Amino acid sequence: MNALTPNRLEAPAPVGLLAELTHRCPLRCPYCSNPLELDRRSGELDTAAWQRVLKEAAGLGVLHVHLSGGEPTARNDIVEITKTCADLGLYSNLITSGVGGALAKLQALYDVGLDHVQLSVQGVDAQNAERIGGLKNAQPQKFEFAAKVVELGLPLTLNSVIHRGNIHEVAGFIDLAVKMGAKRLEVAHTQYYGWAYVNRAALMPDKAQVDESIRIVEAARERLKGQLVIDLVVPDYYAKYPKACAGGWGRKLLNVTPQGKVLPCHAAETIPGLEFWNVNDHSLGEIWRDSPAFTAYRGTDWMKEPCRSCDRREKDWGGCRCQALALAGDAAATDPACSLSPLHAKVRALAVEEAAENPPDYVYRTIGSNVRSPFKEEVHS
Ligand code: SF4
Ligand code: FES
Repeated sequence: MNALTPNRLEAPAPVGLLAELTHRCPLRCPYCSNPLELDRRSGELDTAAWQRVLKEAAGLGVLHVHLSGGEPTARNDIVEITKTCADLGLYSNLITSGVGGALAKLQALYDVGLDHVQLSVQGVDAQNAERIGGLKNAQPQKFEFAAKVVELGLPLTLNSVIHRGNIHEVAGFIDLAVKMGAKRLEVAHTQYYGWAYVNRAALMPDKAQVDESIRIVEAARERLKGQLVIDLVVPDYYAKYPKACAGGWGRKLLNVTPQGKVLPCHAAETIPGLEFWNVNDHSLGEIWRDSPAFTAYRGTDWMKEPCRSCDRREKDWGGCRCQALALAGDAAATDPACSLSPLHAKVRALAVEEAAENPPDYVYRTIGSNVRSPFKEEVHS
């Protein structure tokens, strides 16, 4: 073991906790990163369990809690849970669709110390946005919600997930963020996990569209310096190197599902054979340090070539394990999004082919559906 190969069991302190409070959501976005088998309300952790998890997270060194879902404001106890974050000194970020009961709870959330709001927008044109999100009349509710966030003086981030159905609106998203008074905009090209993997052919843009969207973002960053920060997540299939998914497996992030399973990333359950521990049976600290799922791909010992001898291995940690499983059939393989992967050319060709075809209809996210991951054209087969 040398300095460049840290012990896989050596666990740094986690920075963030993604608290998936519920999978219930009024929207039905076809790119949702939640699993295909969504948790039902009856199995959700109760208030006391979430409060214990938050306390343990603070003890572990977690700084940020992302209150997410589904739609977190669908929980009746969202205000209580947010207050617990504030009491523990945890920075709370509400990741919300801004529809349903979100607006009605916003003042109370502010009053108990909510720190930040991240609002999703599916499109700029209302009709397009509502077709993507699968909910009529969503856009005016989002506008009203955003106005209230800004009126309260809460920092607002807009999150736009980009795909072939809205990539022509990237300039519009930037204008919208400015108009709404957001401090930050995420232009996040779809990552193909969960429902997005099922809908990949319907969502995949072509390379020229992607390049144009990047050009628009770069120009706007220059123009809006000091006014709006724009984060850009480029699409994996067209990238040169993969991203450090979840900041590196078991290095920064804990993801707690509505039923209390703790995952190293939101799609980890797609990897067969991994054992996930539940907060009902173990403390968060035990899970972070010792659970089989967290230690499986922590550090670099598990890596194969070309990652094993690559000088980027502690920058991107080999990319995404879930994508490696989906595309290469082996979660320990180099993420095929990486240009050094032997499968990269095939993945790129697949994206080009899908983007050139007429998009199929969306398979909308639904609780209790029988949708299964297609794995129809794994590039390794
Ligand atoms: Fe990252 Fe592995 Fe690609 Fe190197 S070979 S850039 S470590 S994914
Ligand atoms: Fe699981 Fe990337 S989504 S490691």
